[in-house]
Amino acid sequence: MCISKLKKAQDYEKKNEAIGNMQEHPLFHVTPAIGWMNDPNGFSFYKGEYHLFYQYHPYSTEWGPMHWGHVKSKDMISWKRLPIALAPDEEYDMKGCFSGSALELPNGKHAIMYTGVSDAKKYQKAASDNAVMQMQCMAYGDGVTYEKYAGNPVITYHDIPSGGSVEDFRDPKFWYDETDSCYYAIVGNRAKDGCGSLLLFSSADTFSWHFVSVPHSCKNQIGKMWECPDFFSLCGKNIIITSPQEVDARDLEFHNGNNSLCMIGKLNAQKDTFVEESAQQIDYGLDFYAPQTLLAPDGRRIMIGWMQSWERSHCKPVDVKWFGMMTIPRELSILDGRLIQNPIKELEQYEKNTVIYEKVLLSEKMELKNVCGRTIDMTLEIVPLYNQKQQSVSIYLASNEKYYSEIHYSSPDSILTFNRTHSGFQHDVLATRQVPVRFRNGAIKMRIIMDRYSIEIFVNDGEQAVSATIYTPQEANRIYFESKELSYLNVKKSDIIL
Ligand code: FRU
Repeated sequence: MCISKLKKAQDYEKKNEAIGNMQEHPLFHVTPAIGWMNDPNGFSFYKGEYHLFYQYHPYSTEWGPMHWGHVKSKDMISWKRLPIALAPDEEYDMKGCFSGSALELPNGKHAIMYTGVSDAKKYQKAASDNAVMQMQCMAYGDGVTYEKYAGNPVITYHDIPSGGSVEDFRDPKFWYDETDSCYYAIVGNRAKDGCGSLLLFSSADTFSWHFVSVPHSCKNQIGKMWECPDFFSLCGKNIIITSPQEVDARDLEFHNGNNSLCMIGKLNAQKDTFVEESAQQIDYGLDFYAPQTLLAPDGRRIMIGWMQSWERSHCKPVDVKWFGMMTIPRELSILDGRLIQNPIKELEQYEKNTVIYEKVLLSEKMELKNVCGRTIDMTLEIVPLYNQKQQSVSIYLASNEKYYSEIHYSSPDSILTFNRTHSGFQHDVLATRQVPVRFRNGAIKMRIIMDRYSIEIFVNDGEQAVSATIYTPQEANRIYFESKELSYLNVKKSDIIL
């Protein structure tokens, strides 16, 4: 009997996950059991639980024909692995089941919308050899098992506006619009001039889709192809999140080549024009891409991203059995026209062994008792004693005599620098990032989340986020502080224990 591609991948994962597990995974950040993972997909709330799928190639730690891996959770901190949900096993997705989204339907089904990548020649005789075609497809399931829709693909190359690329047409995010009583899907496309544009489609039933408009496009302003779009409302505004490729840096923003962009504005009533009020980079770190959001039952808008940059995804330790991790889920809000992101409150229930230090006088190098570890949640406040214009403070994380990852704050320019030059990467050319931060109420506040192979920094209650992976051996778990001028330090540090 011929075993299906899906069953083969599921069996392979089961058989090999023990090997992957021999190498410690992060404790509360999603990773694959074995093999390669990229974008978060289908981040959704279904029948009382949060589901997260991801771009998955179980057979190696390199990107390959994409499957959808699957985990679920009651609180988005402690995750349970589920069988692989999709494999590239149909003519229309033979070259990969690319990114997409998921939603609970009124009939109780969990609907998935994804991009099927196929051989273009199968659909267009004139297509050149090796050309691919990307079309949008549906699958329906019960939270564990998913079946592809017999009428796939549901949005094809015929639905793309004239001149749009059939090779770059991917990553549908769909949602239900109460006001219009229909489903909408926003899909990334490359327009005639090579720049990214977003296409909007609508459907009454998720089976049959119609082109509506091109609400926004990049006009070659920020990057080229816009991958992984998301659209939602927050604090009375409409938000578009997307991940542009080939971005030119602007000052301290957009340095990773492939970047993530948040645009705040308003979509007009005809749904054909997004009036952009502001555009910002989402994360200032070295590793952040392809974020996706969901609306939690209590109204919070929560975002999760792939904590990896494409640019450095080929440099990994030789012996790794799994590769790729997600960020901590972040609650979004808007303040003064900018996106704010903070770790979800569910993390707090796992905080143990909390130690608090108040008004510690910081001068030279200093360690604090029980302030150490690699799976921690730590909030710091640095309050200069005399002159906030003359500050130079460093925090060394994941350190021992050989390794450290440094966060350095300096004024008067008020720049935070993250540096992982000594964080266990042997091929890391790109190792620092700088972030403009502000002094608020005479202090700088930072929340630092560490989970074995990552550091996420949330500055001033989420005004900036900085995410980065590290490969520092776990024994390097010391934390110390250093300041050139006198300042007070307030510290609250907890271990995360699941
Ligand atoms: C973004 C991306 C998506 C695509 C997927 C393929 O990282 O390139 O556009 O669907 O990865 O794995």
